[in-house]
Amino acid sequence: MLEKIKATSSFIKEKSNFNPDIGIILGTGLGGLVKEIEIVKSIPYKDIPNFPVTTVQGHTGRMIFGKLGNKKILAMQGRFHFYEGYSMQEVTFSVRVMKLLGINHLIVSNASGGLNPDYRVGDIVVLKDHINMFPEHPLRGANMAELGPRFPDMSRVYDERLRNKARVVASEHNINLKEGVYVGVSGPTFETPAEYIMFRNFGADLVGMSTVPEVIVARQMDMKVFGISIVTDSGVPGQIVEVSHEEVQQVAIKAEPKMTLVLKELIKSM
Ligand code: HPA
Repeated sequence: MLEKIKATSSFIKEKSNFNPDIGIILGTGLGGLVKEIEIVKSIPYKDIPNFPVTTVQGHTGRMIFGKLGNKKILAMQGRFHFYEGYSMQEVTFSVRVMKLLGINHLIVSNASGGLNPDYRVGDIVVLKDHINMFPEHPLRGANMAELGPRFPDMSRVYDERLRNKARVVASEHNINLKEGVYVGVSGPTFETPAEYIMFRNFGADLVGMSTVPEVIVARQMDMKVFGISIVTDSGVPGQIVEVSHEEVQQVAIKAEPKMTLVLKELIKSM
């Protein structure tokens, strides 16, 4: 595994000749940020050795190198979800590669169901913590000691300084930014009403099918992490309506300008 990660990062270093400082994983319908990037180079996933290829609708797979808010970034357009059938090693592979490329800051975005009754569809929420409910752990198996410890600390997963900056940026632009706990589940089913209630009782504000595996791996390697989510549907009893992937994407696209602005300004201030 380590050899594969090293081979892939060497390939990318050679191809891109670019040393990004910040890695970004763009989630569902959050392609808006791409338009803000001064693209220097992009590499389709299919041309990257050892890289899986994205299959889900609405996710194009490529690695983008460029400048955003005067910072050198690497953006992953399209992520690998556990529900697609990828192993946890595949889901988190790109984060390992980022670290070997010298990236120490990871920004992740996603779409989620809102569990907190104060949230509305279309709200954007900064992650302050998470609950891992994936049926398999991304760090299970032989530990790559070169990359991080066997038993990583998870007491401060989402960087407090970045969260504070995001709050300042949002208030400067009159954007209502919330903070919450994200529970990561396998999917691909959306939750039953009973499951939404269960996750709320667990202490979560949001539920989604991504992010947690990548973030765990990033924290094992001591990367600073910032996570942000768009509430695309409600899991609050009495407000639950039928939900589809298309609706999730439509809401995400509508909230895109707000999200893009927060991320752009946050990156500028980093
Ligand atoms: N549940 C799980 N994942 C999601 C949801 C949801 O309600 N909305 C968007 N992603």
